[in-house]
Amino acid sequence: RRSPPGTFVIFGGGGDLTRRLLVPAIYNLACAGLLDDHFSIVAVDWTDMSTGQLQQNFHDALKNFVTSRATEAVALREDVWEWMRTRIRYIRGSFEDEATYAQIAKEVGEENCIFYLAVAARFFGAIVDRLGHSGLAHETDGMFRRVIIEKPFGSDLASAVALNARLLKSLRERQIYRIDHYLGKETVQNILALRFSNGFFEPLWNRDNIDHVQITAAETVGVEQRAKFYEGTGAVRDMVPNHVMQLLAMTAMEAPTSFDADAVRDEKTKVLKAIHTVGREDVVRAQYGAGSIRGEPVVGYREEPGVNPNSRTETYVAMKLRIDNWRWAGVPFYVRTGKRLAARKTEIAIHFKSAPYALFRDTPVEKLTPNIMMLHIQPTEGVTMQFSAKIPGPTVHLGGVRMKFDYSEWFREGPSTGYETLIYDCMIGDATLFQRADNIEAGWRVVQPVLEWERDPGFLHFYPAGSEGPKAADDLLARDHRHWLRIGPGHTG
Ligand code: BG6
Repeated sequence: RRSPPGTFVIFGGGGDLTRRLLVPAIYNLACAGLLDDHFSIVAVDWTDMSTGQLQQNFHDALKNFVTSRATEAVALREDVWEWMRTRIRYIRGSFEDEATYAQIAKEVGEENCIFYLAVAARFFGAIVDRLGHSGLAHETDGMFRRVIIEKPFGSDLASAVALNARLLKSLRERQIYRIDHYLGKETVQNILALRFSNGFFEPLWNRDNIDHVQITAAETVGVEQRAKFYEGTGAVRDMVPNHVMQLLAMTAMEAPTSFDADAVRDEKTKVLKAIHTVGREDVVRAQYGAGSIRGEPVVGYREEPGVNPNSRTETYVAMKLRIDNWRWAGVPFYVRTGKRLAARKTEIAIHFKSAPYALFRDTPVEKLTPNIMMLHIQPTEGVTMQFSAKIPGPTVHLGGVRMKFDYSEWFREGPSTGYETLIYDCMIGDATLFQRADNIEAGWRVVQPVLEWERDPGFLHFYPAGSEGPKAADDLLARDHRHWLRIGPGHTG
């Protein structure tokens, strides 16, 4: 079904996020015929440029996007672009100037509006205050006004609580769409489909059958061009309260009573609130040193342009989390995320308990291949089951085998960037895949102790770029007689 008519107002319309992600997402929605004929884009930014120049920038970005993602030669659909082009307008103005909002109000009249805050986090409060004062946030019968807010949502628990309170002075909770692009990923949504639309996973999904869970979000990229942002942020704030907590919540939550936005978000918040306060011994912070990625030497974090040579910002974090509820008591969730690791890999591995005793004399229980269900989020999307099987031959020998479901092989369609799903959901008023205030605050609560220890000397380890991470992270699991699955190529399990 088509989106309702309306205007998509982008604060930061001249910026990188808009070009790289929002414009391609809108183009994809237009290609799929999901946008109303009365759809338009108003880009707001302070740069001096004309609407024509902005349209040209968007066109260039789209060409880039289409060619970079295509596996075979695909051309930009110029008819779709032309449809889009005539619907794009540019407003030059400061985000803190009332006059900018008066201009926006003139442009959008009484239309439905989505205000997308593709700006630095320090502007979130200021923009929403002004949307409130100018009357732009005001909805009337049958007309909506919604705000999509990017991350980082706060920099700790207190600032997230304060930002939520500030937003709620101008908006109602149902008008606020806090985006976490992980929730737009097909395979992240598939976690719920897998668990709650099949009969055979859920009965095993608990402390009786599961030994532990590993959640990994590993990247090979370094800090890229974002040193200024990253220095003050670090891996914990950048990834854990948001992306990693969403993965954990999807894996560990109870079945919601329906797929209604609030029912799903209630369950997610509930499980995040059940996470036991972390102890310092359960956290490993680390930073990458020089090393190599795919055979190419790369510099250490402290040598990256724009980074303080004595920086203590972490680029990696591993944590052992415990969930205090009936389903998960005693089942550790080990999570880790980092930059400049051995491979790009986002994955959730559910390690099941082994068989209760060894029927096969040659292979004692501890030598059996562990039963692991791996949910691959990226770069390949799918599910793998690992178990033991008899190796062909006259004698009984057991070996580990894997059974794999590959998303793109089965459906022949690569999952999208995630942004089109989320933008479309906002247009139709479905907030299921967005974070509610209590959801965000519950995520921050989990990492808050870590933020308080970050200045302590000794609370930072190092790892070579391109490696599996710091040794201290291996020790974290070795203490429990477990080990991480490999990130880089090679044997896992
Ligand atoms: C962003 C972080 O939110 O997520 C980045 O700010 C990180 O530092 C990125 O690289 C990872 O996203 P994805 O989709 O590549 O896993």
